[in-house]
Amino acid sequence: MDIYLQTERLTLRRFTADDADLLIELDSDPAVMRYLTGGSPTAPEIVRERQLPNILAGYEKWGGDLGLFAAHEKEGGAFIGWFILRPEPDGPLDEVELGYRLRQAAWGKGYATEGSRALLVKAFTGLGVRMVWAETMSVNLGSRNIMEKLGMTLADTIPTPPDMEMIEGSEFGGVRYEITKQQWEQQ
Ligand SMILES: CC(C)(COP(=O)(O)OP(=O)(O)OC[C@H]1O[C@@H](n2cnc3c(N)ncnc32)[C@H](O)[C@@H]1OP(=O)(O)O)[C@@H](O)C(=O)NCCC(=O)NCCS
Repeated sequence: MDIYLQTERLTLRRFTADDADLLIELDSDPAVMRYLTGGSPTAPEIVRERQLPNILAGYEKWGGDLGLFAAHEKEGGAFIGWFILRPEPDGPLDEVELGYRLRQAAWGKGYATEGSRALLVKAFTGLGVRMVWAETMSVNLGSRNIMEKLGMTLADTIPTPPDMEMIEGSEFGGVRYEITKQQWEQQ
């Protein structure tokens, strides 16, 4: 296993070309996809032909330091989903997005907060990151709670992307949270 980081209960590792089925299964749960696509699954061929190759290309581009990382429970090894710590495709390397998508079986255990906290430590102390941002739909309270627990602050409201206008709650738009290294150090 190509380990990226470990927390008290989780191991985050780099994905491999053999991981398509894990991603397909994760995105097949309407509850997981509720605030991402309105509940629709991601087509298996999109995962195999586009998403997974992009994830692997990201490791090449950023030397394995940034990108999307598979998360497993340390105890038992179950795949629980993924975390993202990644710059915009052509953006500065010191401004990175934080994100998470977990299997329903793993919700409500504090895993998203635990993994994200460790990613902030890594970003600010090991990767030279200056600012971490995260975006979600306004109505995705679970996701917003994590951002707030991390000490991130609401920086902006954002319009709903055209392809998400059919999703429940899209009329309330989206939110962007940010935290700078300085703010994180002062916590
Ligand atoms: C959002 C998600 C990552 C939360 O993961 P999680 O591991 O259950 O989150 P945590 O247990 O760390 O919870 C963080 C806080 O949010 C709260 N919370 C979690 N889900 C919630 C919900 N649906 N509504 C309100 N609060 C919620 C928790 O109670 C916790 O607060 P607390 O510690 O004060 O009780 C998970 O539900 C998920 O993957 N959802 C589908 C994908 C998704 O929407 N990703 C975000 C897209 S931007």
